[in-house]
Amino acid sequence: MKKLKIIAIIGSLRKDSYNRQLALLAKDVLGENVDFELLNYEDIPFMNQDIEFPAPDSVRRVRDAVKAADGIWFFTPEYNHYFPGVLKNLLDWLSRPISKSEPQVLAGKPAAVSGITPGMSGTAIAQDHLISLISFLNMNVMNAPRLTVPNAMQQLDEEGRLVLKESAPYLKDQAESFVAFVQKHQHV
Ligand code: FNR
Repeated sequence: MKKLKIIAIIGSLRKDSYNRQLALLAKDVLGENVDFELLNYEDIPFMNQDIEFPAPDSVRRVRDAVKAADGIWFFTPEYNHYFPGVLKNLLDWLSRPISKSEPQVLAGKPAAVSGITPGMSGTAIAQDHLISLISFLNMNVMNAPRLTVPNAMQQLDEEGRLVLKESAPYLKDQAESFVAFVQKHQHV
């Protein structure tokens, strides 16, 4: 069977982002059976219809990566009870048709949502907003399980790296569920 390709979209550009670290832990959990890559999108410009066509190279690269993926796994921080603007900007670009004949690349793509925060909310409110948006964009959202990791500081090792303690089984559960969800979608 073909190896599944899953792209992780992290809603933080921060080098030591907990959400980035969570995505890297997800990569370990998924193991060799899944081709799992973190999307690099920090070079895409702000959406501006003056530069939309032809799309900048950075946008084309990101679109191609999303188009080639079997599934998209979002890892989002919560900023003021919302998901960060960098992620909204990326999704605004991806929401647009590539050309008059080619549709946008998100429609129908299986999607999972996770997030981690040092606070108590576990990013649940940000995730609700993100799910509204990606549903509007016609992604095929896995509504359960969702992964909301609160209290990140309590799940670090001595060097301050995220290791996940009590949340580890939930990451494994979500990874297994998403692989099954993507596989099921492929066979429809
Ligand atoms: C935050 N943070 C935050 N946390 C939270 O749980 N709920 C919130 O509404 C907010 N709001 C917020 C706004 C802004 C502008 C910033 C910069 C931060 C804290 C946030 O969860 C924390 O900085 C995380 O570490 C960000 O995620 P990454 O970058 O570690 O992935």
